[in-house]
Amino acid sequence: MAKWTMVFQFNLLLVIFLVIRFSEASGHNMFGMFRSTNDKQEGNSSIWAILVAGSKGYDNYRHQADVCHAYQILTKGGLKDENIIVFMYDDIANNPSNPRPGVIINNPKGSDVYAGVPKDYTGKSVTAANLYAVLLGNKTAVKGGSGKVVASNHNDKIFIYYSDHGGAGLLGMPNMPFVYATDLINVLKIMHARNTYDEMVIYIEACQGGSIFQGLLPEDLNIYVTTASNSIEDSWATYCADTKPPSPPEFDTCLGDLYSISWMEDSESEDLRHETLEQQYLKVKKRTYNNNSYQGSHVMEFGTLRINNETVSVYQGSTPRNFSVNPGPSFSSVGVVDQRNADLYSMWQKYKKSTEESQKKELLKKINEIKSYRVRTFETYCGSLTQYGMKHSRTFANICNNGVTKKAMDKAIKETCSSHKMGKWDPKIIGYSA
Ligand SMILES: *[C@@H]1O[C@H](CO)[C@@H](O)[C@H](O)[C@H]1NC(C)=O
Ligand SMILES: *[C@@H]1O[C@H](CO)[C@@H](O)[C@H](O)[C@H]1NC(C)=O
Ligand SMILES: *[C@@H]1O[C@H](CO)[C@@H](O)[C@H](O)[C@H]1NC(C)=O
Ligand SMILES: *[C@@H]1O[C@H](CO)[C@@H](O)[C@H](O)[C@H]1NC(C)=O
Ligand SMILES: *[C@@H]1O[C@H](CO)[C@@H](O)[C@H](O)[C@H]1NC(C)=O
Repeated sequence: MAKWTMVFQFNLLLVIFLVIRFSEASGHNMFGMFRSTNDKQEGNSSIWAILVAGSKGYDNYRHQADVCHAYQILTKGGLKDENIIVFMYDDIANNPSNPRPGVIINNPKGSDVYAGVPKDYTGKSVTAANLYAVLLGNKTAVKGGSGKVVASNHNDKIFIYYSDHGGAGLLGMPNMPFVYATDLINVLKIMHARNTYDEMVIYIEACQGGSIFQGLLPEDLNIYVTTASNSIEDSWATYCADTKPPSPPEFDTCLGDLYSISWMEDSESEDLRHETLEQQYLKVKKRTYNNNSYQGSHVMEFGTLRINNETVSVYQGSTPRNFSVNPGPSFSSVGVVDQRNADLYSMWQKYKKSTEESQKKELLKKINEIKSYRVRTFETYCGSLTQYGMKHSRTFANICNNGVTKKAMDKAIKETCSSHKMGKWDPKIIGYSA
């Protein structure tokens, strides 16, 4: 008996020893729980990028412009189209309001950023469900679109960039429902549990962007996030008519968003093989703070912060670059427009320029319709959440968290809503947000 036990123990030790040697030799660790640092260099590590513009409509030109611009940076950085997945409604370049048909710019002096952008998920296929399916690499769950999904492995890096309106705990989508923080984070947790990436970086342009991650994103998922704004403030549009610098005179819409153009113009002007994520974060934070004016927001970072000592090239590519899509960044304060008012702002610009009385009247009517809808804060929840309504979703969440029963809320909403016409915000027309 004793002898057999000894033999057994010896064999067990031998097995353990061999497994350890094997994993050292192959660059893999025994159970895949910890990885040796060199397999990142030795293994076949790819970068996957998911780019999402969450809005539609010409007045939201800037979000799709941001995303197209991001594509150009990544593709010039050496990422292959098969590893870049783009979600955008694609109603801007050929929109009748676009003064430069077939072209999208993201900077007053910038050149076209639209050419070559893959049309993976456009129009009705730009949905939260498709975004989750793409992230989870689940081809059968995808509806419409190119069917391209993230097919990454445990060596790969993932870069996600999103630009649109947001609210407390949610990100807009051009088709309902929105992206909810808990759903998104749940998807990230599943990806982590399935070991489908090594490390991930997420950049989010949205009002109240911090509310998606603050207190919700675990620090041990190997995910590093920066957001344009903290949990309670708006983020800002820029390169608008009448801002400094202005969009070219033929545009009456904003061309970009402050946080977004800040990271992208930085990526275009630095050698990303040497700049770290932290250095980029600090520069973007400074520029987005907009010289301490009230027209700025606080860029935040969340998640696995140690990742920010890696170079930007690890996530955005590293081809030595020398291109001039945009002039270099200026760190002086820039003129901006609140994300939520950017549509009203562009309507005012159109109104000012218009010489036709009937068009002026029509625009004024539209402006007043939007404004009067917006002051009815509570009533916003009676229709679908508009981009302005999102701002108040925190209030809404607070009501829910404070134990007001669903029945009491239904009653209050019914009473409040029965007296006003929802018009085009009727959820029967545009859909419910959840
Ligand atoms: C790495 O990529 C090369 C070429 O694409 C391939 O031949 C090799 O099998 C890959 N190695 C691993 C470990 O996947
Ligand atoms: C992929 O999506 C389909 C359809 O929604 C679902 O039935 C299946 O379980 C999913 N597969 C995985 C691996 O999550
Ligand atoms: C980043 O810092 C960690 C320790 O926090 C270290 O192990 C790692 O090697 C560093 N990475 C780089 C690229 O400097
Ligand atoms: C980059 O541009 C500069 C200035 O235009 C030029 O001097 C330099 O040779 C270029 N480098 C490469 C690698 O093309
Ligand atoms: C920042 O703001 C201060 C005053 O608020 C002003 O004097 C200064 O010129 C501004 N700096 C830049 C770079 O715009």
